Amino acid sequence: MEKNNSKNIEHVKKVYIKTFGCQMNEYDSEKMVEVLKKENYSITNHSIEADLIILNTCSIREKAENKVYSELGRLRKLKSYNPNLKIGVGGCVAQQEKTSILRRSTSVDFVFGTDNLFDLPEIIKKITSGQKICQTKRHPRQKIRNFIPDYTFKKTKSFGIKSFLAITKGCNNNCSFCVVPSTRGGEVSREPENIIAEAKNLISSGSKEICLLGQNVNSYNAKDTNFVELLKNLDSLKNMERLRFISPHPKDFNNDLADAFVNLKSLCEHMHLPLQSGSNRILNRMRRWYTMETFYEKVNLLRDRIPTATLSTDLIVGFPGETDEEFEMTMEAVRKVRFDSIFSFKYSPRPGTQAIKYTEQISENIKSQRLKKLIETQEKIILEKNNILIGSVQEILIERENNNLEKTLSGRTRGNHMVNIENCDANVGELVQVKIIGTNKNSLIAKPLSNNVF
Ligand code: 5AD
Ligand code: SF4
Repeated sequence: MEKNNSKNIEHVKKVYIKTFGCQMNEYDSEKMVEVLKKENYSITNHSIEADLIILNTCSIREKAENKVYSELGRLRKLKSYNPNLKIGVGGCVAQQEKTSILRRSTSVDFVFGTDNLFDLPEIIKKITSGQKICQTKRHPRQKIRNFIPDYTFKKTKSFGIKSFLAITKGCNNNCSFCVVPSTRGGEVSREPENIIAEAKNLISSGSKEICLLGQNVNSYNAKDTNFVELLKNLDSLKNMERLRFISPHPKDFNNDLADAFVNLKSLCEHMHLPLQSGSNRILNRMRRWYTMETFYEKVNLLRDRIPTATLSTDLIVGFPGETDEEFEMTMEAVRKVRFDSIFSFKYSPRPGTQAIKYTEQISENIKSQRLKKLIETQEKIILEKNNILIGSVQEILIERENNNLEKTLSGRTRGNHMVNIENCDANVGELVQVKIIGTNKNSLIAKPLSNNVF
């Protein structure tokens, strides 16, 4: 390694990585960066100057998948400027489509699956000699002592003040609409020691907030450590300021986890609790394993303990067979729970899932109308809820300086509201107390408390 460094200094190659989709993909891309740096690659933000281009793809909805093929079309012409350019496709589309990507897009040199990012050095060697490679073999998923070949690398740089940390990967739930169990495989949890080691690394390199990642994050279990125990261990680390997690499944949200929100000082009082639909019949067809009644109980587990805790959710409209009345039930759930934010999607049929086989697919037109109604209803709720926050004092983690005339800083509350702070001379990464003085559509406006203007 050392020897190569001095020799190859003028031959540093450049890699351009474009990430599509969820935070798990963002996390995997960061890992690719670490792997490739060890191979003497530096990162570029300009595809035109790259020797290697990697698309880390998402296949959760058809639209996401189509974006990948359009991007490949655009990238193809770069090969005529630079014949040595190599193009790779990783992530969920790669895992799903395998060699058919190589057939469909001839400019692609290699395809690698969601378990294969650590095989990149070996793959790159092979493509350099002119081979086309498709490596999508999964690592074995053992049930006992189920560990993931470890992700922990010594960090070469800080990944900023907010970091993601994967604690599980894959999912055993098989929701009938979801492609993740087939693209990411069955669920495996990472060994707790490795998670703690990575968290310590992140904190020492400047992270103030760590968000634990997993497709069903709260079913984490490895070496007799369950999710709440893991949270307790992480909360006790020196200088752990803020802890979050996504995405939990309502079926695994219990009293112990609700208590953790009260007892663990770093655990932020916000939870993303994906509901998907407000109709029990549709929830059953989605294979979600809870009813609206149990979902409301889960919401109360949190709100009874912390009335100000914030909640966000995912909702799908136009699931096969969803009637107008059943869509109304989703609207009713949104009005009743009053989420602080929602991520709403039109149902998209995905290959290999149960729901693609269901008859009664809903037209695009109806899906669009339902989505619009849902978003309009939620916008009113957000406006009302944001207005209630005016006058409150909040702790903000400063994430960035905005280059506007007013020189505002932006950050988030513990409840995950985006806040723009006026006249504030704090630095990025600091925690400051502010008073909320107004709201915009997607954010709150605040002034620092220390200015004594109140
Ligand atoms: N169509 C629409 N939305 C989907 N999601 C997952 N699969 C689909 C699909 N086939 C949504 C769910 C999930 C979020 C990450 O994406 O709401 O919680
Ligand atoms: Fe997909 Fe359901 Fe697993 Fe979430 S819980 S990743 S929606 S199968």
